[in-house]
Amino acid sequence: MIKSSEEIELLKIAGQIVGDTHNYLKQFIKPGITTKELDKLAYDYIISRDATPSFLNYEGYPASICTSVNEEVVHGIPSDRVLQEGDIISIDIGACYKGYHGDSAWSYPVGNISEEKKYLLEHTEKSLYEGLSVIKPGIKIGDIGYAIEQYALKHKLGVVKELVGHGVGKHLHESPDVPNYGKKNTGMTLRKGMVIAVEPMLNLGTADIYILDDDWTIITADDKPSAHFEHTIVVTKDGYEILTKR
Ligand code: MF3
Ligand code: CO
Repeated sequence: MIKSSEEIELLKIAGQIVGDTHNYLKQFIKPGITTKELDKLAYDYIISRDATPSFLNYEGYPASICTSVNEEVVHGIPSDRVLQEGDIISIDIGACYKGYHGDSAWSYPVGNISEEKKYLLEHTEKSLYEGLSVIKPGIKIGDIGYAIEQYALKHKLGVVKELVGHGVGKHLHESPDVPNYGKKNTGMTLRKGMVIAVEPMLNLGTADIYILDDDWTIITADDKPSAHFEHTIVVTKDGYEILTKR
C-alpha cells in the first residue's frame, strides 16, 4: 500500500489531470446541457492529456464519468437528461496516466439553487476537509470517518454508509477501505506514502439509499438531494497533499 516516490510522481500527474478535467467541465455546467454532453467533453479532455478515463468499462460501467443529479447519490450514468436551473449535479471523474489512477468527485449547482441545496453542498464539502484535516502518519482510518461523521451529524445530514473511500494506485480501488463513519483510534494505521481517496456522500434527509434497475444509479430512499465530494491524497511526512487539486 505504500507507494514509491516514482509511483507518487505518476499519481500526482493522474490526479492533476482529474483536477484539471473538473476545472474544464465546470464552465459547461449550466441549464440546457445534457449529462451525455458533459461525458463527451470529459472523455475528449482526458484523452487530450494522454490519459484514459478510469471508469469507462470499469466492471462494465458504460461512460467516462458519473453524473448524479439531485436525489442521485453516486454512479448516475450520463444520458440525454437535460440539466435544469435549480438542480445540483455530482460529477465523479477518474483518469489513468501511465498505469496510475486519480479519482475525484465534486458537486455543483446548476444556476440558482435553493437554500437547502446550498447548505448541503457547503457542509458536504466541509465534511471532506474535516476528514482530511486529521490525516498524517500514525493516525488510524477510523479517525477520518469519525471526523466526517461527527461533522455531518452536527449539521443534521445523513451519512451514506454503504459506499466508502479507498486506496488508489495501479487500481482505481485498492485497500484500505475508508468509511465516512467510525470510531477514533480504530482500523489500519496510515503511513507516509499511502494514497487514498476520501469521499463523503451526505444526504439532506435519510442516510438510506437504494439502487435503480440500471444496476448502477444509487438514489436516496426519501428522494431528497445528496452531495458527494472526493479528493485523492497522499500521506506525507507530517500531513497530506491533495493530488486532485483544482
Ligand atoms: N469514484 C467512484 C468510486 O470510487 C468510482 C466509480 S467507477 C464506476 O466509487 F465505474 F463504477 F462508476
Ligand atoms: Co472513489
